[in-house]
Amino acid sequence: MNRNMLHYENGQLHMEGVALESIAGQLDTPFYCYSRGAIEHQVDSCKLAFGRIGASIHYAVKANANLAVLDLMARSGLGADIVSAGELQRVLAAGIDPRRVIFSGVGKRDEELLAALRAGVGQFNVESLPELVQLAELCRENGLRASVSVRVNPDVRAATHRHITTGTRGSKFGIDEEQLETALRMVMDSEGLDLRGLALHIGSQIVDAEPYRQACLKMRDWVQRYRARGFPVTHLDLGGGFGIDYGAGRGLDYEVVADLAQQLLGDLGVEIAVEPGRSLVGPAGILVSRAIYRKEADPTPFLILDAGMNDLLRPALYQASHELLPVRQPVDDRQEQCHVVGPICESSDLFLRDARVPPIAAGDLVVMLQAGAYGAVMASVYNSRPLVAEVMVDGQRFQTVRETISTEQMMAWESVLEQGEETDLDQL
Ligand SMILES: Cc1ncc(COP(=O)(O)O)c(C=O)c1O
Repeated sequence: MNRNMLHYENGQLHMEGVALESIAGQLDTPFYCYSRGAIEHQVDSCKLAFGRIGASIHYAVKANANLAVLDLMARSGLGADIVSAGELQRVLAAGIDPRRVIFSGVGKRDEELLAALRAGVGQFNVESLPELVQLAELCRENGLRASVSVRVNPDVRAATHRHITTGTRGSKFGIDEEQLETALRMVMDSEGLDLRGLALHIGSQIVDAEPYRQACLKMRDWVQRYRARGFPVTHLDLGGGFGIDYGAGRGLDYEVVADLAQQLLGDLGVEIAVEPGRSLVGPAGILVSRAIYRKEADPTPFLILDAGMNDLLRPALYQASHELLPVRQPVDDRQEQCHVVGPICESSDLFLRDARVPPIAAGDLVVMLQAGAYGAVMASVYNSRPLVAEVMVDGQRFQTVRETISTEQMMAWESVLEQGEETDLDQL
């Protein structure tokens, strides 16, 4: 737990200077709660590490796209890494300079590319040969130009969950090394495209430096090889993926990656970019929930929360686990074994299996830690549940930075089939 962000005071868990119970007194549970101070702390340490090597930081918006979060990133002078026109709209609304925006993603529609071209997005990370053709065509038809980096699949194995590894052969991401020269040639030969450099992203929640070392070595090799063949590679984008400590005691320090990049790429005279998402916001957010029941069962009782997999999908999707803390400070060290589950009608709606947690009774508030990234953004309305509120704490005060989106509001967008005249097939 980040001690500065979360601490017990007078027997109550506080985020910064605010008692979580007082927020829960004013809002329905569950809700996400972010600490402004903790986000800024993460951003500062990222800037310190990568600033030292002159690298630019582009916040991966997919981790948490709330406008209040983007506003903090914009104020800190970060660029952004986006994967859709929706994320583009958000970063522009937050005031992030489009020239500092990188457009990633394996499938971009014409309208999305055009919106990004017109907004003046600074770097298009192209992930396939057809995308290069598409982008060149759009530039030609509309008299626009695009700065292109080619995202390569480095075939580096990162020890992370198979759903979040992206840099191995056979993954849908990036161009295979064998196609790299063709891709670079296509950029050089296309009128509206300017070659910027190479990009990669080897996966997410990587706690080991070794895959980054291997990826940097490959980058080094490509830069030298393709420069020798006349391709002006000036920018290298190392992606994101820096792991955080979800309770197992391991994360990856920005300094370690920055040192590697400096050691292995520093003499090439290229501009380096990174795209961290999770590490900037994950540790700064929690999901606050209330226990609905404690259900006795053989062999293990269940603690049934009012938060479900629709609110926090990571455990169901990646078998991830989030540490749980009671909001009321435990009076002793007693722990009980239970499965912590949500109310959704799916067996995969399970947050912690065979967890040992302090005694928690129905009605008690609990928090799940490290929920600031890939939490609210992945929420759904499954089981006709609302999209939960998001709150940001700033010192002694808090603000709802996204209201609950209720079932009533969702239903307002639906309609039943209009009753038309019935067609009598015999008369046709
Ligand atoms: C291209 C790209 N860049 C950056 C990121 C951010 O990764 P993370 O949130 O693990 O730092 C992702 C996420 O998978 C990504 O796909």
